[in-house]
Amino acid sequence: MILIKLGGSIITNKEKPLSSRKKTIENIVRDLKKIDEPIIIVHGGGSYGHYWSVKYGMHTQPGKYDLRGVSIVKNSMIELNKIILDVFLKNRLNPYCLPPTDFMDGNKPISKKVKEMEKIAKSGLIPITFGDALWYGKNKTYILSGDKIMTLLSKILKPRLNIFALNEDGLYFDLKTKKLIYELKGQKPSISGNKMDVTGGMSRKVEEAYKISKNGMDVFFVNGNKPERIVKAIKNKKYEGTLVRGKRNV
Ligand code: IPE
Repeated sequence: MILIKLGGSIITNKEKPLSSRKKTIENIVRDLKKIDEPIIIVHGGGSYGHYWSVKYGMHTQPGKYDLRGVSIVKNSMIELNKIILDVFLKNRLNPYCLPPTDFMDGNKPISKKVKEMEKIAKSGLIPITFGDALWYGKNKTYILSGDKIMTLLSKILKPRLNIFALNEDGLYFDLKTKKLIYELKGQKPSISGNKMDVTGGMSRKVEEAYKISKNGMDVFFVNGNKPERIVKAIKNKKYEGTLVRGKRNV
């Protein structure tokens, strides 16, 4: 099984509120059709949920955030999710929408529900979930990022490969030269300071990727504008991007 995160930077125009990159989504989905292994899709918020969560000062830390913000973030994520689901449907794939409320209890995943996602994926349906604003309990809410969902799902499902599709070729040694890191073997510190986007989004991805690799699995950062690279990684084990080797494969 393969877990794929479509980052907000690739599926939306991050600098333009509420603007999706439909053509890019279509290109990715068309290439996903070539994969014959079960897949689960997680997508980010970009200029939808991410945009609103920043506007309303909401964070991943549970807190008493503006309820208006909670509703608006949720609403915008449904809107983006619908765009993605429609592209899957139009391309004759069978998406199965699973908002994170379907498998989360507060900030803990419901193991039984997560395991069910694997069964759904194996049936030929494609579970699609997304980062969202969630109820935490005690009148608190929080932002559950798509990146965090990757870590939570991978821990339970142990996919063969975890893919993060970005708007960049992968992770770079530094932003000036954009010299690509081809492979990492669990050595997080060298890239933890590499903030590739102002919201700190990239360092969070690196953080989650490191956790996933520590749990033994491989993580692959790839340019979503070149979706054939996703297919090549899955089918031919040819990695044109950054491969973070899981501890068991180092
Ligand atoms: C979005 O998930 C969460 C919300 C703010 C609703 P991510 O944090 O994973 O989104 P991107 O991929 O960085 O845009």
